[in-house]
Amino acid sequence: MQVAESIAQMKRLRSELAEPLGFVPTMGYLHEGHIALVRRAHEENASVAASIFVNPTQFGPAEDFEDYPRDTKSDLAMLEEAGTDVVFMPTVADMYPQGFSSWVEVGKLTERLEGASRPTHFRGVTTVCTKLFNIVKPTRAYFGQKDAQQALVIKKMVADLNMNLEIVVCPTVREPDGLAMSSRHVYLRPEQRQAAVSLYEAIKFAEELWSQGERNAEHLRQVVTDHIRQQPLAEIEYVSIADIRTLEELETITDSALLSLVVRFGKTRLLDNTILQ
Ligand code: PAJ
Repeated sequence: MQVAESIAQMKRLRSELAEPLGFVPTMGYLHEGHIALVRRAHEENASVAASIFVNPTQFGPAEDFEDYPRDTKSDLAMLEEAGTDVVFMPTVADMYPQGFSSWVEVGKLTERLEGASRPTHFRGVTTVCTKLFNIVKPTRAYFGQKDAQQALVIKKMVADLNMNLEIVVCPTVREPDGLAMSSRHVYLRPEQRQAAVSLYEAIKFAEELWSQGERNAEHLRQVVTDHIRQQPLAEIEYVSIADIRTLEELETITDSALLSLVVRFGKTRLLDNTILQ
C-alpha cells in the first residue's frame, strides 16, 4: 500500500493503478462501516484508493473540525488489511490554497434535513468530493447509506454535472446492539452510549408498523419521537419521513419513504435512517 501526501504525488501514483479503480473518500478515524466500503470496492475493482481528509469546508463555525478524532496509524493498518492500494492524505493547504474561491452546489435536495440544520455543510461535501474525483479519477466511488442524504446529493451532482464515474451506495454497518457505527461515538459518555441504542429501537419499531400496513407518515414520526423521548439524555433534532428522491416530507406513504432522524446526546449529533419499502 502506498500513501500519497500531496495532490501531485496522488496524480503520479494514479497513473500506475490498474483499471477499474474503486475509491472510498473518508475523514478517517475508521471503523467497520468505512472498511465495508473498502472491501466492496476491492471486490468490484482491479485497484482501490481511499482518502483520509478532514474537510474543513463542510464543518460550520461552531462545529467540531478542530476536535474531529484522528488516528492515522490505526487507519492505515485497517486500510492495508482491507486491500487498499493507495491512500490519499492531502493537507488542508494543498486542497484549499490561499485564494481558493470555487464551489460546487447542489440545489433543493441540500436545503432539507441535514442542510436545514447545517446550512453550508453540503457545499463543502460536494466541493471536496468534486476535487477528490478530479484528482483520483475513480471508475466507481463508494458511499454509505448511513449518510443517506449525502449519498443522494452526490448522485445528483454526478448526474447533473455529467461526472464520469459511478456512485455505489452500501448498507449501514451497525454495532452488535444496532447503533449505526460512527467516528463520533468516541465523544459519548458511557450512559449516553447506552441510551443511543434508542435510535435503532425506534427505527425497528417504525419498520414493524410499516410491515403491518401503517402508511400514515405523521403517526410513524410520532411513534419514533415518543420512543426516543423516553430517554432523558436524548434531544431530538428531527424525525423525517420523506420522499426517497426529493426528500419532501410525506403525509401518506404510497410506495416507499426514507425515515431519517438526528438525535443529540450532549454535543454529539447521531444520525440514522432506514428505507421503508
Ligand atoms: P466519513 O464520515 O468519514 O464517512 C466516509 C464514508 O463512510 C461515507 O460514505 C459514510 O456514509 C460511510 N459510513 C460512515 N459510517 C458508516 C456506517 N456505519 N455504515 C456504512 N457506511 C458508513 O462522509 C464523510 O466522511 C465525508 O462527508 C466525505 C464524503 C469523506 C467528504 O468529506
